[in-house]
Amino acid sequence: MPDLIQISDDLTFALSNAHFAYVFRVSQEGVLEHLHYGGPLSDPLGVPRHPRRMNRHVVPTFQGTPYYSLSDTPQEYSSFGTSDYRFPAFHGQNADGNTVFSLLYETHEIVEVKPPLHGLPSSRGDGSQTLIVTLHDRLHGLRVTLSYTVWADYGVLARSATFENLSDHDIDLRHVFSSALDLPADDYEIQHFHGTWSREFNEERIALPQGRFVADSARGTSSSAHNPYVAILQAGATESFGRCYGTTLVYSGNFAISVEKGEFDDVRVLAGLNPFNFNWRLKPGKIFTTPEALHTFSGRGLGALSHHWHDFIRDRVSPERFRHVPRPTYLNTWEAAYFDIDEDKVLSLAETAKQIGVDMVVLDDGWFDGRQDDTSSLGDWGADPVRFPSGIPALAAKVKAKGLKFGIWVEPEMVNPQSQLYAQHPDWILHVPDRVPSLGRNQLTLDLSRADVQDYLFDSLNAILSCGDVDYVKWDMNRTMTEVGSAALPRKRQQETPHRYMLGLYALLDRLVASYPEVLFENCASGGNRFDLGMLSYMPQGWISDMCDPIGRLAIIGGASHLFPLDVMAAYIGPSPNHQNGRVSSVRTRFLAGAFCAARGVSLGQADIAAHQRELSDWMRFAQDTKADMVGGRFDRVKKTENEVAWQYSSRDGQTIYLTYFHSLSGPNMPARRVYYVGLEPTAAYHHADSKVIYRGDALMQSGLPLPRVSAREVASGVQCMPEGDFSAYLFVLRRI
Ligand code: GLA
Repeated sequence: MPDLIQISDDLTFALSNAHFAYVFRVSQEGVLEHLHYGGPLSDPLGVPRHPRRMNRHVVPTFQGTPYYSLSDTPQEYSSFGTSDYRFPAFHGQNADGNTVFSLLYETHEIVEVKPPLHGLPSSRGDGSQTLIVTLHDRLHGLRVTLSYTVWADYGVLARSATFENLSDHDIDLRHVFSSALDLPADDYEIQHFHGTWSREFNEERIALPQGRFVADSARGTSSSAHNPYVAILQAGATESFGRCYGTTLVYSGNFAISVEKGEFDDVRVLAGLNPFNFNWRLKPGKIFTTPEALHTFSGRGLGALSHHWHDFIRDRVSPERFRHVPRPTYLNTWEAAYFDIDEDKVLSLAETAKQIGVDMVVLDDGWFDGRQDDTSSLGDWGADPVRFPSGIPALAAKVKAKGLKFGIWVEPEMVNPQSQLYAQHPDWILHVPDRVPSLGRNQLTLDLSRADVQDYLFDSLNAILSCGDVDYVKWDMNRTMTEVGSAALPRKRQQETPHRYMLGLYALLDRLVASYPEVLFENCASGGNRFDLGMLSYMPQGWISDMCDPIGRLAIIGGASHLFPLDVMAAYIGPSPNHQNGRVSSVRTRFLAGAFCAARGVSLGQADIAAHQRELSDWMRFAQDTKADMVGGRFDRVKKTENEVAWQYSSRDGQTIYLTYFHSLSGPNMPARRVYYVGLEPTAAYHHADSKVIYRGDALMQSGLPLPRVSAREVASGVQCMPEGDFSAYLFVLRRI
């Protein structure tokens, strides 16, 4: 492996590979100063030392050092109170009430094996080197260890921090950001993804304002309101142009990604635990570890930024066991029957599933003891004796006897007040004393920071999975947290509850995944309310949204694709009119919107399936035939206008190139449009099955392919047309010959 980390005698540190270089140094004062994050450099240690500002009229100088202020010095890990007024990476309080910390360089080392993060998921270190730099506040006895990992083959840098209390008194940790990135003054935009239930991953791009922009969550889940992903873009960046810096976290709870444009226009990006309503009491001798932050740089626009993320997430974050493993197609009972489900219906849907050629039946909500609607029974994980008299293991065996796989829905983190579990353990929920707990979807959140709750859930799930016939689990989580407090924690530690909850959840998932490595887990939280790299570390795919209307879903998949590969997404053909927005759309458009997701299927009732049996069978056959292609390939957003979307997906071996084109509203007399392919082999020949035309790669990339006409009424024969009407979709398949 090439040297990924270089260190000079004057303590300049460079982490670099073919994709980027990241350089910082220790100043005379002992401050870690950031020097460069951007494209690769032939001599990273020789990166220019840009002059500091010299006008010190408006800012104090650092601890009396002439001409040196932290207020405009780019730093690796800032604190507050010693001449820097920007939002700091670290802020804490000593037992004597003092909140001024000064973290100065102590030592460093390079390690070949990436250290795991205690109790937290993190990216796999194969093919990487890690630089560990320790900072020390000698007055307060706090040591901060910064960890930087660089891989030979990926454009991603991983960072985290640990805090060790070397003093003999408690230290309260308040800001414990995982990483801080100080970028030079420039003309930037912020790209972030916001939303709500059924409208996740809306992309917003705004000019970077003066002051502070924060994407965050205090809901207990990373949330659909703000996905934990923010990119800083050179103003005007496109899919193929501009410097872009992406930041995300391997974490699923309360987070903040803060972007601050300071008084001198330099930009600070902080990523980590949300400091709002957070306090961690660090006892003498104890260590606190932050979640992992990940950064990516692209000098060639958003497309390349996404490719860096996709390759890395697939190879180093998502479970290794399922890497490049084709996913089963499935029939999910939710939109087929909702709560009106029983053993006979599952078996008859299984028969239908076989007829239309899907691999797996997933029994969604409604199967457990007393669960007839969403008012009861979460927590009681035995099968309902009336509707599922044979029990889950026997039902799973019957489904499998038909040659299908069997999957099941659970929502382990929740309890309904109307349940045996709540009656027995009212103190097992997140709550604060003497306050009525707020309900969400009629349910309360179990306190997963408690070991007894984790054990109960492990045993409950073990009872279902140990039969050995469950191939897939959809792990749901349908409310955000309120009245967050734990009966198991002392008064001074109540603000640790949300993070301890996450540590408890991860501990439970660690146990389950280790016990059932073959089970395919799908992450869901009312759709995409916790769609992040923390959950993805355990669950190789996720239910990104409850929005199955294709036009709604296109925006969601397109937004999420900036960070996530489509390998980790599941999509199914739901009913039309759609149950969330009432839109009527064809089976074809419903399928094609999710065609490049690794996991595909249907969730339709028997009558709907019967009405479209031939077409559904055709698409499920297509899904079967292409499922090996839909893992590990390359995804490109090749067209996006208000009315149109085109996506290109190239199989991992580069042999098959799929392109889907969608328009929302039809129109008369529309202009002739083209789409320009990307990433093809310029001199290779590609055969288009429908038109029987052979194109060269360079022709498809430089001259483009004519898109089908919107309306057959206005074109001569021989020209491809979209199916008529609104919400229409077209699929091109090119094979390299
Ligand atoms: C959530 C999920 C749905 C479905 C229901 C069941 O809303 O996102 O897919 O599983 O719960 O209650």
